[in-house]
Amino acid sequence: MANIFAKKPLAQLLGEANSTGHGTLKRTLGAGNLVALGVGAIIGAGLFVRTAAAAAQASGPGVTLAFVVAAIGCVFAGLCYAEFAAMIPIAGSAYTYAYTTMGEFVAWVIGWALIMEYALGAATVSIAWSEYLNKLLEVFGTSIPYELSHSPFEKIVVNGAEIHGLINLPALLVIAALSLLLIKGTQESAMFNAIVVFLKVAIVLVFIAVGWQFINPANHTPYLIPENAEPVKDAAGKIIREYTAWNKHGWGGILGGAAIVFFAFIGFDAVSTAAQEAKNPKRDMPIGILGSLAVCTVLYILFGHVLTGVANWREFADPAKGGEASVTYAIKAHMPGFEWLSTAVTLAILLGFSSVILVMLMGQSRVFFSMAKDGLMPKAFAELHPRFATPYKSNLALLVFVGGFAAFVPGSLAGDLTSFGTLLAFVLVSAGVWIMRRSDPAQHRPFRAPLSSPMFPFVPIMGILVCTSMILALDAFTLKVAMGWMILGFIVYFLYGKRNSMLQKGIVVVPTEMEEQAFIEPDVHNR
Ligand code: ALA
Repeated sequence: MANIFAKKPLAQLLGEANSTGHGTLKRTLGAGNLVALGVGAIIGAGLFVRTAAAAAQASGPGVTLAFVVAAIGCVFAGLCYAEFAAMIPIAGSAYTYAYTTMGEFVAWVIGWALIMEYALGAATVSIAWSEYLNKLLEVFGTSIPYELSHSPFEKIVVNGAEIHGLINLPALLVIAALSLLLIKGTQESAMFNAIVVFLKVAIVLVFIAVGWQFINPANHTPYLIPENAEPVKDAAGKIIREYTAWNKHGWGGILGGAAIVFFAFIGFDAVSTAAQEAKNPKRDMPIGILGSLAVCTVLYILFGHVLTGVANWREFADPAKGGEASVTYAIKAHMPGFEWLSTAVTLAILLGFSSVILVMLMGQSRVFFSMAKDGLMPKAFAELHPRFATPYKSNLALLVFVGGFAAFVPGSLAGDLTSFGTLLAFVLVSAGVWIMRRSDPAQHRPFRAPLSSPMFPFVPIMGILVCTSMILALDAFTLKVAMGWMILGFIVYFLYGKRNSMLQKGIVVVPTEMEEQAFIEPDVHNR
């Protein structure tokens, strides 16, 4: 009888790492590098698209407070991540950590949830990419028709006539192009990444500085959405947004908004996966994680303050106004004389989004790779291309799967599902640290999360509580779809994973040299 809670022995994991050279990654990163790494991986569609979505759907101008709540959840979970990453120095993820602490079934659940984080995250950013591409084309007097740049679940009213989306072609094409690039094995150069990071931060700062002068204080009152707020209607008078639900107004709306903008923080876990390369993990990891979170949180709060001050949050609820490409909209509609800025912002955003999509697609193929090596996913996902040494079958499968989501699912649903998957992984990682402190207290921990003794695991408990409350504050429809996805995951596990698991069969998995070469340099860090 198979034991679905069987744990992969830590010694075996560390053995895998050492036998194949994972343990030999050079310790070259200082605290400053780690902060830059985090900021580069973090800023993306979350800020440039989800900020307006959270303001319009739940938080109003209080989206600034939603950023604070989301950041608090990230700090607690991030410290737990770092403890694992330093203890299990293998190019892995929450999935790998869970396999050794909470057993195969929980590892599976995390792996399945991570598909939402990475695959749907890539889809979300590609949909945002499509929105901003259209804004760029408008500068040249053209655009992609609404039908061909939106999912079938979206519609807009123009001159009294409803137009429905059919397929989001630009989003599909950017996913296809980047998947093919990944198969060829592009190593993002440090230079390219440095430029993208610089551009992203510069655009955020310029928008804050210039936009500050255009803030209309009336847009900031009231600061939280009142319970009796008028629903937002489209041009035909149909209700698009209502605010009566507990997580759509007042303080509940701040929590609801936090779950939405949580997306903007995803990627900081890249810092924790660099633990094995940190010069002094004990000192530098907390600085790297907390520092990059602090920098982003400050930028996000200022950005949210300016965005909801320049345009009214209700405008962001209407797809015919600021519901799409919100930053470009706000500049064009409310900052006269700064058209050049809107074009510059759009260009930087398109570039910045491409690198986030690339990192997410790569992260997903790695999770698939680990799961396939363990027998929990079909072997094909672990097969490397004979020439390029990339997991090309995994990349192709992702092209179809992620491309399908990008083409046919609205960005807000994909984004909320991404938040769900990541939050679930954070909850389980936080629990894992607590469990491991009890079950294996003697294990060497190069970095220990503070205030996390087995008797008083404050940080893990807070990680669990804050992230769980954000999950519960997600949209009811999102939660239903997410539950459906997790149930599908259980079915796949019991019909496939459990029967094929290497651990259950007693087979020890050791990566080959070629796999090692392909995966040794975790450039998923977006350096
Ligand atoms: N944090 C990343 C973004 O906002 C995922 O695009």
